[in-house]
Amino acid sequence: MSRGVARHGEGRAVFEAAPNIALVKYWGMRDPARGLPYNSSLSLTLDRMRTRTTVCFDPMRERDELILNGERIDGPARADASRFLDYVRERSGVTSFAEIRSSNNFPTASGLASSASGFAALAGAGASAAGLRLTPRALSQLARLGSGSASRSIFGGFVEWRAGTRADGRDCYARPIAGPRHWPSFRDVVVLIDDAPVKKTRSAEAMQSTVRTSPYYRERQREIPGRLARIRRAISRRDTRTLFPLIMEECDSFRSVCETTVPSLDYLTASSRAVLAEVRSMNDAAGLPIAAYTHDAGAHVHVFALAGEAAAIRRRLRRIPGVRRTLELSAGTAAHPI
Ligand code: DP6
Repeated sequence: MSRGVARHGEGRAVFEAAPNIALVKYWGMRDPARGLPYNSSLSLTLDRMRTRTTVCFDPMRERDELILNGERIDGPARADASRFLDYVRERSGVTSFAEIRSSNNFPTASGLASSASGFAALAGAGASAAGLRLTPRALSQLARLGSGSASRSIFGGFVEWRAGTRADGRDCYARPIAGPRHWPSFRDVVVLIDDAPVKKTRSAEAMQSTVRTSPYYRERQREIPGRLARIRRAISRRDTRTLFPLIMEECDSFRSVCETTVPSLDYLTASSRAVLAEVRSMNDAAGLPIAAYTHDAGAHVHVFALAGEAAAIRRRLRRIPGVRRTLELSAGTAAHPI
């Protein structure tokens, strides 16, 4: 098939998006082809970390090219990006291949959710370079096809990705539940772990093996709607006493279905586990929950706390052997064109 000029739009666009950290985890798809999850999830979009992506459709190109952090990439990452642009081409009628230039201001594939910010930025840049005028909701549905968690990075602040029930996925989308300024003192202390193993399998594959083999997956599915509603309410009331124990309960549930997957999925190192233990002991000593841990499919740990407590918590956590450094992040803004 010959590939013609972009039918409409300028053919080039730049978009920026931030990673997010899930308070309620997405783990398991009811329809992998459409990227439809079993359960709704909820996250906080982060500030300071950013992916900036430029997409330029060009009728002279013979294939999609990916330049990641200044380096031309061939292999699975290029294939994933190219497959994603096929969705954009399908929807827009654009037939050209593109050059994709993407850079992160934080380490790529380091367990810091580069696929969420990466596909959110690619969805925004790709859609607008192809002349598609999508609402943020429709953009979240497009981003989902690259990486589920990317659907949430379209919005800033606290974001819920609704699983929906329809087979066609029309009721499956992300929406903001509290903007970036809703809770100004809310902090995410990111605890970076030394020698965190690089992820070998994409989460999209690992989670389906949990669905098939973990004996606790069904039980987790039964618990999530109630837990998510309580977490949503605690966020709207800015109530850490209710919220922090629920975040840890959710993280423990996620970890237990991972560990009981056959073969077992163990993302943590001894240092990550020491961070979890330290958070529990700080809460015990304080006599109330002053911090909450969570982690994704990787060894780094995120510890939520309020601004007044964050500095002391960072000092405690930095003393743990194997903790490389900590970052203190706040709520970030929505993905946007540049
Ligand atoms: C554990 O949708 O980011 O972070 O792109 O394959 O890595 P990949 O999958 P992705 O899976 C996210 C899983 C999670 C939980 C979450 O973010 O909700």
